[in-house]
Order: sequence, then C-alpha cells, then structure tokens
Amino acid sequence: MTCRLFAEVLENEGYHVDSAHTCEEALDRLAQAQYQAVILDVRMPGMNGLEAARIAHSRDASIPIIIMTAFGDIDTAVEAIRDGAFDFISKPMNLDELKGTVARALRQPQVARERGDSSGAPSPRLGTLIGNSPAIVEVYKTIARAAPTASTVLITGESGTGKELIARAIHEHSSRAGGSFVAVDCGALTESLLASELFGHVRGAFTGAVNDKKGVFEEASGGTCFLDEIGDIGLSMQSKLLRVLQEHQVRRVGGQKWTKVDVRVIAATNKDLEDLMRQRRYREDLFYRLNVVSIHVPPLRERRQDIPALARHFLACYAQSNGKPIASISEGAMALLEAYDWPGNVRELENTIEQVLILSNRPALAVEDLPAAIRDPEAARSTRSVEQSFNFPDTPPLEEMKKRYVLHVLDTAGGNISRAAKLLDVDRRSLYRMLARYHVGPYSKSPE
Ligand SMILES: Nc1ncnc2c1ncn2[C@@H]1O[C@H](COP(=O)(O)OP(=O)(O)O)[C@@H](O)[C@H]1O
Ligand SMILES: [Mg+2]
Repeated sequence: MTCRLFAEVLENEGYHVDSAHTCEEALDRLAQAQYQAVILDVRMPGMNGLEAARIAHSRDASIPIIIMTAFGDIDTAVEAIRDGAFDFISKPMNLDELKGTVARALRQPQVARERGDSSGAPSPRLGTLIGNSPAIVEVYKTIARAAPTASTVLITGESGTGKELIARAIHEHSSRAGGSFVAVDCGALTESLLASELFGHVRGAFTGAVNDKKGVFEEASGGTCFLDEIGDIGLSMQSKLLRVLQEHQVRRVGGQKWTKVDVRVIAATNKDLEDLMRQRRYREDLFYRLNVVSIHVPPLRERRQDIPALARHFLACYAQSNGKPIASISEGAMALLEAYDWPGNVRELENTIEQVLILSNRPALAVEDLPAAIRDPEAARSTRSVEQSFNFPDTPPLEEMKKRYVLHVLDTAGGNISRAAKLLDVDRRSLYRMLARYHVGPYSKSPE
C-alpha cells in the first residue's frame, strides 16, 4: 500500500520506479538492472531492510540507499546513518520529505560516477557526520528523534565540535528539508545589524537602508533558521527573539506590520547559558524556549575514539579534492593525532589534515608531516610560554607589547581566530576588534 503510494508520488516527480514486495525480490532486481537509488523499509517479511541494505551496499557501494524506519526504531536509524552510506527517513513521514530525500540521494553519487570512482568505496563527502563513539551515537539518536518534530533544539559544545553540522542534519532529516537552511552568526554582528539581519528592515529605517529587506526569519520560512552563538546576544535582543519564538511573527526594523513566519529554530552556543542565567545576563524564558530539545556535543578530546575515523575521512575528502593520491596515515602519526588535545576540536583536525596533505609528498602521512604542536605537545607548550617568546631586546610600550602578543598567539593558532580567541581567553568579537585596530586583515568578518 505505502509502496504503491510512494511509487506513484515519485513517478509524478518524473522518476522511473520499480517496486518489490520482499527484500529478496529487490536484491534480484538490483542484480539485473542499473538503479540510481534504493528505498528499503526496515520491517519486511523475510529478510529485513537493513540486511538487504548491507548486501546491496557490498555489491555496489555507489548506489545510495534510503532506509525507512518507524519512529520507534530509532536505533535502527542510527545504525543506518552511522554507516555513512545510507540516509534514512523516519515514519510517519510526509511526501515532501520523501521527495527531498530522494532528490538529495540522487545528487550525491553522481559526483563519484563522474570521477570514475570504481574503488567500490562510497565517495567521501564533507558534511557527513562521522564517528562511532558512544557520545556521538547519543547525538545521532537525538538527531533522529528531534528531526521529525517541530521542536526548537539547543546545541551546546565547544567551538569546532560540529554544532552546525548537527543542525544541518536535523534540517535535512526533517519535513522541512525541501525548504532552506539559513545560518546566522549572532556573535559576529552588532545588535542593530543583527536585528536587521534577523527581522529585516524597511527602506529608510537607518542610514544605508536604501531598500526594504527581508530578514532571515522571513527568508527561511518553511525551512530552518540556525542561530549560532546564541549566548552572545544582549538582553534586549533576547527579548525580541523571545517574542518571535512565542508569536511566530516578525516586524522589520523601522516597520509597522507584523508578518507570520513559519520557521524551525535551531540554536547553538559554546557558552554556558545556565551560568549566564545565574548572572542575570540571560533570560530564563528564552532559555527554556530554546532548550526544548538539547544536544550537548562533547569536545573531541573526550571522545578520542572518533579521531581515526575523522582523520581518515578528512584525508579521503581532501586527497580527492586536491588530486593527491595519499591514501593512509601511518600508525605513528595516527597515535599522535589520537594523543593530541585538539583545543579547536574537529575543525582543527580537519584544518590540520588539509594543511598536512597539501604539504606532504609521501604515499602515507608520516609523523614528520605533522605540525610541531602535535608531534611534541610538551615542547610546543613550553615554546608558547611568554618567557621564551617575549624575550624582546627592546622595551616596547604596553600597547605595542599587547599587539605583538596577540599576533604571536594568532600565529601559534595557525591563523585560526576561534582558537586564538580561546588561547587569549577573549571572545572572537573582541579579537576581531583588536585585529582591526592593529590593521591586520582580512579578519574584518568571521571567516568561518
Ligand atoms: N562528526 C563530524 N563528522 C565530520 N565532520 C565534522 C564532524 N564534526 C565537525 N565536523 C566538521 O568540522 C568543522 C567544524 O564543524 P562545525 O559544525 O562548524 O562546528 P561548530 O559549529 O561546533 O563550531 C566543519 O567543517 C564540519 O564539517
Ligand atoms: Mg559554528
């Protein structure tokens, strides 16, 4: 019944659809003809959909497989996504979700085929969630549970832990997948710019407002709005935001009219909002509005078992995009990657692998290829100490000293603003301001 309905919907979309009533029959068909995607229900008489998926995947890894799972079978969905090769839809689903998932699945393998990828492995793709640690599997489960609902989600965790990627995964597995996903870095804008960005403005609302402009809440209508660094907004912005979340309507800056918006909000922060609440710097009512579903992403150093899979994943992605045939990481190098503390989390690991890959010419990444800080964390820590690096022959004025120190730390952080800000214990906005004052470009805007 469902099968026939789905076939009809997809045919109306212009796809050619064959249906099978058991997994055995589906596998037979797959062996006989060329298909671009497979949709399998987990619960089938005889062989179950997950088993069939594994068999189909082992025969031809380039075919995207979409697993359909009942809401109660979240663990199955997790098993499916964890494998990286599969997508899933949870039932009950709506038809837009089905269409969106199929369209997404068909976009993906094309690339692998065009590149003539015949290795049999699925094409590595940045933006896929990787990791098997119990902590990240918990995150997958929450994604799977939260995705089909309309609930607001608050994602907490250090910078670079994957908060935005998780927000995107929720969007893509929701019934809003066909709508847009709009991300706003609330920490990077002044309050008035942020208001205009979020709510839009009318012509003449302020100098420079030459036209009416939609805000992201209007733009993302029907989709998902990702409010990043939500801990960085001031109390008055908090009230404005609370109002939007409660009333589901926005008023453009300088405007009179309230407009209904239909967005799902996912927010993220690396701050401790409960602590800010205790200091009366964060509104409790806003916190509870945002924190309907909460996902905490532990730092990478607390889930080191994800490091090898992530490192291999980034290596595969960047080896492909840079046309470098480096296929593996030596045991010694991997041990160092696993031992390092990764203050910048997955983002730092990703940047490291990309940089190392560009510079290395070996068939396998070796210990010598790794940056000094990872090769010898102890030594790196001591050279970083102020005594050794600030042995200036001159006696600079305090401001000059501060500038040199800031630039030195930025350099140590490999130019990574978030990491430098963390080392200096200031927020990124302050660091941007300092760099602007020192006329150091191009850090005028968030590079992430
Ligand atoms: N579990 C993961 N699997 C694969 N890539 C990841 C994972 N977590 C983070 N990344 C990658 O690391 C980088 C930083 O992630 P991001 O979501 O921007 O972090 P955050 O928003 O927490 O600062 C991105 O390029 C992202 O694709
Ligand atoms: Mg982020």
